[in-house]
Amino acid sequence: MSKRRTPKMAILTSGGDAPGMNGAIRAAAMRGAAAGWDVLGVSQGYRGLLEGKFAPLSSSQVRGIANRGGTILGSARCKAFHRPEVRDQARERLRSAGIQALIVIGGNGSLTGALALSDPEEAGDDAIRVIGIPGSIDNDIALTAMSIGVDTALNTIVDSCDRIADTADSHSRTFIVEVMGRDCGYLARRAGLAAGADLVLYPEAGLSEDEVVRAVANTVRRVHDRRDRSHRVLALKAEGVPVPVDLIKARVEALLSDGGAESDAEIRVTVLGHLVRGGRPSAFDRLLSARLGHGAAAAIDAGETRKMVAWMPPADLPPAIAAPSDEDPRCWLVDLNTVLEETRRRLQETEAEKPRLKPSIEMVLSA
Ligand code: F6P
Repeated sequence: MSKRRTPKMAILTSGGDAPGMNGAIRAAAMRGAAAGWDVLGVSQGYRGLLEGKFAPLSSSQVRGIANRGGTILGSARCKAFHRPEVRDQARERLRSAGIQALIVIGGNGSLTGALALSDPEEAGDDAIRVIGIPGSIDNDIALTAMSIGVDTALNTIVDSCDRIADTADSHSRTFIVEVMGRDCGYLARRAGLAAGADLVLYPEAGLSEDEVVRAVANTVRRVHDRRDRSHRVLALKAEGVPVPVDLIKARVEALLSDGGAESDAEIRVTVLGHLVRGGRPSAFDRLLSARLGHGAAAAIDAGETRKMVAWMPPADLPPAIAAPSDEDPRCWLVDLNTVLEETRRRLQETEAEKPRLKPSIEMVLSA
C-alpha cells in the first residue's frame, strides 16, 4: 500500500516589514501543523523563493516570536517578480520542493505577486494555491478594515508626536513631522487626529506646492494670533505629499518674513522614516495577526486559493466576493483579485470621492 505524502505549505513575508508579521507566521504555522501539513518558511520573500530558500518552520521555531517586530523570515522587494518568466522559475522551485500552497504576508505589491503566481492561465498545471494576509503599515489595502502593522505604526507616530509636542510647546516652535505611508495619507490623518495636530498634509488632498506652503503659513499665523501661553504648531505631513519638508520650511519662513520683518515663528522638521515600521507589535496587532494567520492556514487546509484573509471587510460585499470564516466571526475570505482592483481604484480616487469623517472631527487643511 502506498503511503500518502504529507502536504506542504510555505509561508513568506514580502515588501516592507510590519510589526505583527511574526504573529501571523506563528499562527499560520501552528494551524497548518495541527491540520497535518508540513509547514516551511521562505527566507527573504520572493527573492528567496527564486533561490529555493525553504526551511521547515517547526513549533519550536515559532514559539515566543509574536511579540517581536520585523519578520523572522526576512523580507525583500523583488522587482523581477513582475516578469512572467521569473514567476515560472518560482513555480518550478515550489514544485520541486513539493509545496502545494503558499501564504503571502505583505502589502499590495506582494499580494499582486501572489495573484500572478496562482494565475491558472499563466501557470497551467503548475498553479500553486495562494492565500494572502494584508501586512503593511500603510493601510492602503482595500476590503480589510486593518492590515497588520498599522496599529503599531500609529501608536509609534502618536508617541513621537507627543514627545515632539513637549519640546515644541516649551519653545513655542513649529514642527513639521513627516511620516511614512507611501501614496496613502491614512497614517498621517489618523495620527494627526490622535496627536492633536494643528494641520495634516496628505496626498489625497492633491494640494500644489504653493497651497501646501500657504496652508502651513496660515496655520502658523492662526496659532500665533492666539493669546495662548505657547504658540506651538504641530503639522503632520504624509510622505506621499511630493514637497520635501526642508523646502516647505524654507518657503514658509520666507513667506512669514515677507517685507523684511523677521517672523518669531521658529520652524523645525523631523522625518520619522523607518522608525515607524519597527518596534514590538501593539496588543491589537498581536491579536489581529494571530487571527489572520490562523484564518489563512485554515483556508489553505479547506482547499481555498486566490483569496485574502480580511479583518472586518465592508458589510455590503456580495457572497461571491466575501465569505465569513467558519472559525472566526471577524475574519473573512475575500476574493484577492477584487481586493487588488479596489485598492488600485482607491489610490486613484479623488478627495471628493473618498469617504470622510464627519467635518467636526476631520482636520481642517487651511486656516
Ligand atoms: O509600504 C511600507 C513602507 O514603509 C512605505 O510606507 C514606505 O514608502 C516604503 O515602505 C519604504 O520602503 P523601503 O523600506 O523599501 O525604503
